[in-house]
Amino acid sequence: MAAHDPSAEGLLGGRSERDTYRRQQSSFEKNRDDDHDSESDLDATEFLTRRDPLTSTDNSRKPAFLPRRQGWSIRRPLVNRSRCCIAVLAFMLALWLLLGAGGAFVYKKFQEEPPYGLSPPWYPTPKGGIAATWADSYAKAAQMVSKMTLAEKVNVTTGTGWQMGLAVGTNGPAVHVGFPQLQLQDGPLGIRFADNITAFPAGITVGATWNRQLMYARGKAHGIEAREKGVNVLLGPCVGPLGRMPAGGRNWEGFGADPYLQGIAGAETTRGIQSEGVMATIKHFVANEQEHFRQPWEWGLPHAVSSNIDDRTLHELYAWPFADAVKAGVASVMCSYNMVNNSYSCGNSKLLNGILKDELGFQGFVMSDWLAQRGGVSTALAGLDMTMPGDGVRWADGRSLWGPELSKAVLNGSVPMERINDMATRIVAAWYQLGQDDETRFPRQPPNFSSWSTERMGVLSPGSPSEQETVEVNQFINVQANHSIIARQVAAEGTVLLKNENEVLPLNSQGYTDAKLKSRRDILARVTGKAHGTGKLKIGVFGEDAGPGNGPNFCKDRDCNQGTLGSGWGSGAVDFPYLVTPIEALRAGFDANKVELHEYLTNTPPLDQQSVLESLELCIVFANADSGEGFAKWADVKGDRPNLDLQKSGDDLISKVSAKCGGSDGGYGDVIVIIHSVGPVLMEKWIDLPNIKAVLLANLPGEESGHALADVLFGATNPSGHLPYTIGKSLDDYGPGAKVMYTPNGVIPQQDFTEGLYIDYRYFDKRDIAPRYEFGFGLSYTSFEYTNLTVIGLKKKSALPAPRPDPAAEPPKYGSGIPPGEEVLFPEGFRPLEKYIYPYLETTDEIVSEAYHYPDGYFTPQPPSGAGGAEGGNPDLWEVYVKVAVDVKNVGGVDGAVVPQLYLSYPSKKGVDFPVRVLRGFDKVFVRKGETTTVEFGLTRRDLSYWDVVQQNWVMVAEGEYGFFVGDSSRDEGGLSGKW
Ligand code: BGC
Repeated sequence: MAAHDPSAEGLLGGRSERDTYRRQQSSFEKNRDDDHDSESDLDATEFLTRRDPLTSTDNSRKPAFLPRRQGWSIRRPLVNRSRCCIAVLAFMLALWLLLGAGGAFVYKKFQEEPPYGLSPPWYPTPKGGIAATWADSYAKAAQMVSKMTLAEKVNVTTGTGWQMGLAVGTNGPAVHVGFPQLQLQDGPLGIRFADNITAFPAGITVGATWNRQLMYARGKAHGIEAREKGVNVLLGPCVGPLGRMPAGGRNWEGFGADPYLQGIAGAETTRGIQSEGVMATIKHFVANEQEHFRQPWEWGLPHAVSSNIDDRTLHELYAWPFADAVKAGVASVMCSYNMVNNSYSCGNSKLLNGILKDELGFQGFVMSDWLAQRGGVSTALAGLDMTMPGDGVRWADGRSLWGPELSKAVLNGSVPMERINDMATRIVAAWYQLGQDDETRFPRQPPNFSSWSTERMGVLSPGSPSEQETVEVNQFINVQANHSIIARQVAAEGTVLLKNENEVLPLNSQGYTDAKLKSRRDILARVTGKAHGTGKLKIGVFGEDAGPGNGPNFCKDRDCNQGTLGSGWGSGAVDFPYLVTPIEALRAGFDANKVELHEYLTNTPPLDQQSVLESLELCIVFANADSGEGFAKWADVKGDRPNLDLQKSGDDLISKVSAKCGGSDGGYGDVIVIIHSVGPVLMEKWIDLPNIKAVLLANLPGEESGHALADVLFGATNPSGHLPYTIGKSLDDYGPGAKVMYTPNGVIPQQDFTEGLYIDYRYFDKRDIAPRYEFGFGLSYTSFEYTNLTVIGLKKKSALPAPRPDPAAEPPKYGSGIPPGEEVLFPEGFRPLEKYIYPYLETTDEIVSEAYHYPDGYFTPQPPSGAGGAEGGNPDLWEVYVKVAVDVKNVGGVDGAVVPQLYLSYPSKKGVDFPVRVLRGFDKVFVRKGETTTVEFGLTRRDLSYWDVVQQNWVMVAEGEYGFFVGDSSRDEGGLSGKW
């Protein structure tokens, strides 16, 4: 399989590709077979029957490339040793060949294994059913699960295989007890692979709105569309990647490079989606910060990258937003492809059992990312509850690590009954919790669209070569309602005004107001010595990013950068139902009687046509930067961006237009720059050019792009977007940890997160580096003044939270006896579809019954975390301890929305290092001109605490004073400070 070949990867793309599914499928089959021959590390079937080495206690056979240093307080590697050993052999062979070919460089690289830490064991999996909020659902689930056969329990935990249903993921039903198949569909910005849906703005745009109500509203609209399309589980929102690396390929799916902002946005989106009864999936747990080497084989390596993180950083940054989602009641958590501290996230017991299920009290189910499961028994024991899409270690191989293997593993005692019961119960409880047992809202049928075809008729399991009945697979139901209004509002409010000299913006339908136009022309006449007429205002629009290109769905999964950029690419993208381009909106916005529009919708306009350019009085230049998921690449963007530059020579375009607009000898025309981007871009080459008067960062606006941009440009919406990340002056300014690892440093690439807490603005602040535009920055057409900051302590400071409460409810109890093997035999007369994953066995002879060697400490329950005790963790962590209030007055000339942001500084404490400031509150309020509003922030115990690695708990600094800063950005000079 070619390393980055998306068809081989099996993620088939946009509509046109799906139509040719069958053709692709046969080449895919071929790829898969070739692939299988070359794979030496794993055999899915052997994997379980031979016992899963991940759970072995034998530490004596450490692979040669295991670490020299420990990170977490770990003693035992959880990396699959047999796979490692085989991988080492394969690696040695490859090394031998490379050396033979003179590959001394590679040899040297692989000799220098960097030190890294290992993840500690945490067993057994805490059972779901301890939270008051889920008690009813667990009671109902217990009733249903107690009637299930083992085959049914296994079925609900295992996907039926890639393209075996109409959604991107489908598990098996428990028919006899009335539990349906669940339909799982991407993704974070709309319903992937579907018609007649809304292409909402991407997460990064939502983050830039800083508007909680809008976050919720977008989630709700997304939830409505999912339900009406027949989707049970939405694969979003995305809060990981967090944005450690500004060039990270999927940062745009999330909400910004700060855990607090991600947490609020993720939780509000979750609440919105779930308010419609659809299960949300918070993903990707955790530290999937770069696309390079995110999963085995995709990048030519047998293993994924390991994100090596210390305990405090994990808690305070990467796991933080997941905690918010759990507190919001999220139904599902998707574990990520990468390893964390050298244990695959989906088999990492410390992460899933320890942090997620014990400490955060997660009551729903953990599902794997697509093929992120890399072990069988081991992952079940580590806390995985559902495997997706069900296939084994290769796309669409139909050889699940669970399914029949899980049936065997339960029958031979490898996976305890209480674990399989808990797995099934968690899934069924989540279904009840969201009210999906109501058949009027969730008919027990496949979705009414097919991810794999645009035809009305087709088969239900196109991934199977077996002959099947043709049925209606696309009903073309329009679920858009009036969601374009929300999409437009998010896109407009998520547009950040970075520069606006001489108040060049807003424009109006005649370009400038009469007064502005007169003064502009007087100035131009003076400096150029030429009369600047009384005729129409001549405006030039430059850049491919202003226009339609070949249409928004030209590339599958949006995996190329052409035309105006509305979203990044990958599973987080959708088929655009339409895309309003900026040029359409500009044409409509300007009065043709007053404005002469000159369009150059290319990045290589004829800039030598002096006669035209010289006469331009205003130039609007568009440029962009794209990235996406690692299964596809475009130009030199292999998922992650190779740098932070504008793409397609955008910098050049801007500089040249600036030089030529309104006169070859100086560029006297005003220039407005519009940027669509997946994340921060460097602006140093042009930002200070004197005629660049305004810059708008429109992020990734979705289908309503042009309308939303026009709303801001023409002033119908007063800009209120703020940066959800820092725009630095160079990539180096973000620190060494901010660099994507493009070349592997070992057979398991080791990404040491040595910068700890210091990412994005925390790094700039610590090193006192001046950014170009700081985190939280954003201008308005009006201005605001802060006064009267007050701080009211509501509770006394104390170091530790109240003791962990007793569980509010009891997990269901089931008998622990292993059922008879007959429960998992193929039912008589059953005609299986080829490659479809069932829980069944042909014969009970397949069950091997040697004693299973459980991992060290498996039977010694871990002490429950003091930080846990309820859904979202210890309830005391969510208690408000201090209130900060501030008055904000609109002192400018127009009405507008303001985003007061609260940053906290910790009191100093010996031996503990704290960031200069951390975001701990924000709100968006609309204030009429001349009026004043009071904004209040409630800070919880968690907000005021740091994670103490020794006490293994959140600790408030009880001595000294906390500092609070409220302003328009993380460095707002007009901000106010207070203490507590
Ligand atoms: C992505 C997930 C997505 C899944 C299903 C994976 O490749 O990482 O985010 O939900 O595919 O499409």
